[in-house]
Amino acid sequence: MLDFIWGLIYNPFWLFAYIFGILSVGQIAFEVAKMINREFLRTPLNLPERYGKGSWALITGSTSEMGFEFCRQLAKQGFNIVFISTRLEVLQDSAHKLEIEYPQVKTKIIEHDFAKKNTVDDYKQLKKDLNGIDISIIVNNAEIVTSKYFKDITPQESLDMVNVNCTSCTMLVHQFINDLLKREKRSAIINVGSLAGYAPTGFQGCYSGTQRMLKFFTYGLHDNYNNKIDVLGLNPGTLKTKESQETSCYCITTPDVTVRNGLRDLGYEIETTGFYAHTIKGGLISIFSRYATPIFDAVSKNCMEKKALEQFRKDHLAKKQS
Ligand SMILES: NC(=O)c1ccc[n+]([C@@H]2O[C@H](COP(=O)([O-])OP(=O)(O)OC[C@H]3O[C@@H](n4cnc5c(N)ncnc54)[C@H](OP(=O)(O)O)[C@@H]3O)[C@@H](O)[C@H]2O)c1
Repeated sequence: MLDFIWGLIYNPFWLFAYIFGILSVGQIAFEVAKMINREFLRTPLNLPERYGKGSWALITGSTSEMGFEFCRQLAKQGFNIVFISTRLEVLQDSAHKLEIEYPQVKTKIIEHDFAKKNTVDDYKQLKKDLNGIDISIIVNNAEIVTSKYFKDITPQESLDMVNVNCTSCTMLVHQFINDLLKREKRSAIINVGSLAGYAPTGFQGCYSGTQRMLKFFTYGLHDNYNNKIDVLGLNPGTLKTKESQETSCYCITTPDVTVRNGLRDLGYEIETTGFYAHTIKGGLISIFSRYATPIFDAVSKNCMEKKALEQFRKDHLAKKQS
């Protein structure tokens, strides 16, 4: 044993490799222990007690599957719900559905296009329209995503993406931060991002940039206001939605599971993916970061080609039938 230790001291390379190995194994063991605690042992917090029963949750992009799941799961816990997105009819439908499911819950709908109405005054007006209701939870979930070569994206599309994905959540937090800090109970901010913010991708350069912004913004808010506000970044990987029609596989989950696990981790974590397989994937992506890009690009290219082929088939069929 002594010979081994002397051998290490006299050979800095092996000493460094040994220390590095022990630290890496230690970190992996720590992360696995954290995951077991999160998935199986820890009791979720009582959110109505923590943030105030009967207070309001404001959810942007509430007409998406993920957004509506937030509305439904928070309504189930007794929060009143503010729905925000661009399509009035879908908003009305969603609010109506929720009121039937949870008759004790109040709802408000705000039709607001974050791409078009993005000045400071527009956000002030949005707040005014809420008539001073007691907002305790803000879920920044609205997004636009594009998966194309950058030259095929129009400047307007890029601008809209930045306004919807980044400006909306920054400005909403600006509008409500003082009110959240003045509340007697704690409050919460959930920024919904994605694993695309863990490493750059060629076909989603601007999109993954917006997701990275959300990730850093989340950490900044947490560091500033952890004493009064629970700030959580919910960053899932690919989800199986009605629209995406992703096939089931061990590394794909659904919006309801992601939202349930996101709310389970609220108040405990700064960041979660909402699904264990996405956490493992996110860990690997973070370690290999830049080297993961070609893999992402190959997958995106394959998806784009499949979608183009599918569209071609549909157009061909439509032409034949007409
Ligand atoms: N789906 C996935 O595989 C996946 C994977 C990782 C992360 N996520 C995250 O999950 C969240 C929801 O994703 P999703 O796939 O469910 O989204 P989605 O189906 O594309 O829906 C996007 C939502 O944003 C709203 N929205 C879009 N443009 C808007 C605008 N200009 N102003 C206001 N609202 C606008 C849409 O509302 P209207 O169209 O009604 O206006 C809709 O409710 C996102 O934050 C995303 O980053 C999703």
